[in-house]
Parts: sequence; C-alpha cells; structure tokens
Amino acid sequence: PGVRPLIAGNWKMHGTLAEATALAAGVAAGAAGKAELLVCPPFPHLVPVGEALRGKAVALGAQDCHAAAKGAHTGDVAAPMLKDLGAAYVILGHSERRADHGESDAAVKAKAGAALAAGLVPVVCVGESEAQRVSGEAEAVVAGQLAGSLPEGFAAAGGVVAYEPVWAIGTGRTPTEADIAAMHARIRAELEKAFGEAGRTLRILYGGSVKPGNAKGILALAHVDGALVGGASLKAEDFLGIAAAV
Ligand code: G3H
Repeated sequence: PGVRPLIAGNWKMHGTLAEATALAAGVAAGAAGKAELLVCPPFPHLVPVGEALRGKAVALGAQDCHAAAKGAHTGDVAAPMLKDLGAAYVILGHSERRADHGESDAAVKAKAGAALAAGLVPVVCVGESEAQRVSGEAEAVVAGQLAGSLPEGFAAAGGVVAYEPVWAIGTGRTPTEADIAAMHARIRAELEKAFGEAGRTLRILYGGSVKPGNAKGILALAHVDGALVGGASLKAEDFLGIAAAV
C-alpha cells in the first residue's frame, strides 16, 4: 500500500534505431494507469528514445554503468553520462551481465554506489539458478546477493530490487505464484533487516517470462511491486498489456 508499482522494460541488445524510437513512441502513446513505466534501451538508442519520450509519462533507464564516474575505461559508460542524457534509472547486476561479464556482488555494489552518487536510481537484479532452486538454496542465494550488492544509501534513494530467477528468463517458465510470493517476502525481510523502516516501501520487481497473460496473478501478490520485462517489452502492446494488469 502506498507504493507505486514500476513496470520496467529491459530491451537488452535488441532493435535498430528506427525500431527503438517507434517502440518508445508506441509505449508513450499508450501510457496510462497506476503504474510508473520505465524503458531501458541499449546505450546507442538512449538519446533518441529519450527524445521520443520527452514530455511523456515514461521514464528512461540504462542497462549498466561503470563503477567510476570517469576515467580510462575504454568501451564503458559512466553513471553521470547517463544522468546527463536524461536517464533516471539504471539496471545493475542483471544475470546476463553477471554471466557474460563475470560481475560479482561486489562489482554490482560498486556500480550501484556510482549510480546513487550520480543521482540515478539503481535497479539491482538478483536471482537463483535452476540448480540452486532444485537444491533448495534459492532464498539463501538471493539473501547473499542482496547482502553483497546493495550499497549504503540504496534505501534513502528509493532503490529498486528485481528478483529474476535465472531459469525463468526468456524461457516461458515461471516459478509458481506461491514460490514468487515466498521469495518476495524473504527479500522484504532482508531489506527491512538492512535498512529498517525504509526497507518496507522499496519496490521489489519480479522478472522472468512476464507476459500479459500471467501478469495479473503475479502483480497481485504481496510484495510484488512491479515487473522487469524482457521479451514482452519489445512490443508496445504487450508491455502496455502488462502495465494494465497492475
Ligand atoms: O530483465 C528482464 C528479464 O531478464 C526477463 O526477461 O521477460 O524475456 O524472460 P524475459
């Protein structure tokens, strides 16, 4: 109660410039309802998508940032640059970055600290592998990721946590609603342990094969304060359909 849900689209490494601006315009045109909307295009499309969203009720976010504010880091992007071009959020520690780029909890924490220093809201991703789920370690794994990945100041800045079971990403499979609810309750408890009262209102998103057809049930669960959407965020109609389920 009192927490405005966030429906975030992670476009990952998809789309031409023309497709990105058309998608942004489509989302902006249909933006309505209770949820806050956020789209996170690939770096090259941030500025034109930001232009397409100007004056519209859709926030702009990036998919990563460096831990340093500037410096000799070829190919990387600094948080103040993202802030400067109009981004409000940055996704950090997505499982694809943890896997593809070996990002540790400590690296994610450093990046989240840089995001906070630049005035960006970090969306920190956590989630267990299928083997960890099967062996009953899922909650302990996620609690450990939270303890290692969230910097000081995270709660004061309204940081967002996204729970994404790795095995549910892009697979069409999701945990049961009971399993999602149990994990989100555990994450809430960890946030309260870490941040006290402030942890009670931080948004916890669910991500992993969220579609218009399953969004209503998932978004109605206690401590599910929105969704981080991959595949279904690439079609304005599907993304808006998920937002309409809030
Ligand atoms: O960041 C988004 C997630 O990885 C979910 O992706 O909706 O394609 O399963 P998906």
